[in-house]
Amino acid sequence: MALREHDSDREAILVVDDEEAIRQTLASFLRQSGFDDIVEAPNGEEALKALDERTFALVITDISMPVMGGLELLARVRRTHPETDVAVITGHLELEFAIQAIKNGAFDYFKKPFRFEEVLSTIHRVFEKQHLQRRSLELELLKERRKSEEAHLKEFMLALAHIIDLKSPYTREHSDRTAKIARMLGESLELSADEVERIALGARLHDIGKLGVPDCILDKPGPLTPDEYAIMKEHPARGAELCRPISCLQPVVSMIRWHHENLDGTGYPDGLRGDQIPLDARIVRISDYWDAITSHRSYRSPMSTDEAIRVIEQECEAGRLDGDVARHLFDCVRSGMMKKVQAPATIGLI
Ligand SMILES: [Fe+2]
Repeated sequence: MALREHDSDREAILVVDDEEAIRQTLASFLRQSGFDDIVEAPNGEEALKALDERTFALVITDISMPVMGGLELLARVRRTHPETDVAVITGHLELEFAIQAIKNGAFDYFKKPFRFEEVLSTIHRVFEKQHLQRRSLELELLKERRKSEEAHLKEFMLALAHIIDLKSPYTREHSDRTAKIARMLGESLELSADEVERIALGARLHDIGKLGVPDCILDKPGPLTPDEYAIMKEHPARGAELCRPISCLQPVVSMIRWHHENLDGTGYPDGLRGDQIPLDARIVRISDYWDAITSHRSYRSPMSTDEAIRVIEQECEAGRLDGDVARHLFDCVRSGMMKKVQAPATIGLI
């Protein structure tokens, strides 16, 4: 079993040849050329023993040797030490072996007598290739790590959204219900499964910016003052800014920012109008609206289903909410599906 690779192994070369004179000539040339870490072996079997002790970047091996020849050594190295490259040395009558070696995964071959500059050029190409492989592996690992950190951050943000709901008895499970309603509307509108998931995630996180709103404003049992309302109105933009740096949440940032926009331009924070408001944000808007008016709040009782439908219809007639999305919402209410996703309106009352 090879030991773990150390930086010093990255330029280690194993020279394998049964002819001592050739082996030593090549080894001393390599040392003179600046490669300090050169090990010699007289045949394939001894070479494998050396490879079991430590890592080599490159094996340069003769083909015809007693005990174990170069082609078998090549096959064993490819199988058990895939990180090590192999170059073979061939006599002038062994070209077919050299071709076979290349087919079996050798990096290159040298014909005897050596042309040392060819050997050096091959060694440099091997090291360059291995350097690039290591770099690409490091980048892969980095990407994987980033992906897993992003996934943790997403879980963390979802936990924060849940905490915001828990902070107030009146909003307990509001984000979760809003997500369920948004998912139902997405399915009713026959959006793709990926799109429905994205919208449900946006709905779960839509109020995350309320982290920056003081509890005394969130739970105020009565109308907000203009100053308090101004603070409350900052939560969509704050939430969007909170999620924007997390790349897996970027697809939901627009929903978070625009879940209080109205089609007639009277919403906030950007006062968007009509088609400027994407469908996903309109879905979250109506889902949030419906759950808010049919749930208890500190300043009022929940509306009945008929009352809530009337209010949404009025909002559509006034040009604030999307009539098409609202029709799908009413279909879900009338078919009884809404009851399944919404908890009883008394939930959370203490
Ligand atoms: Fe909100």
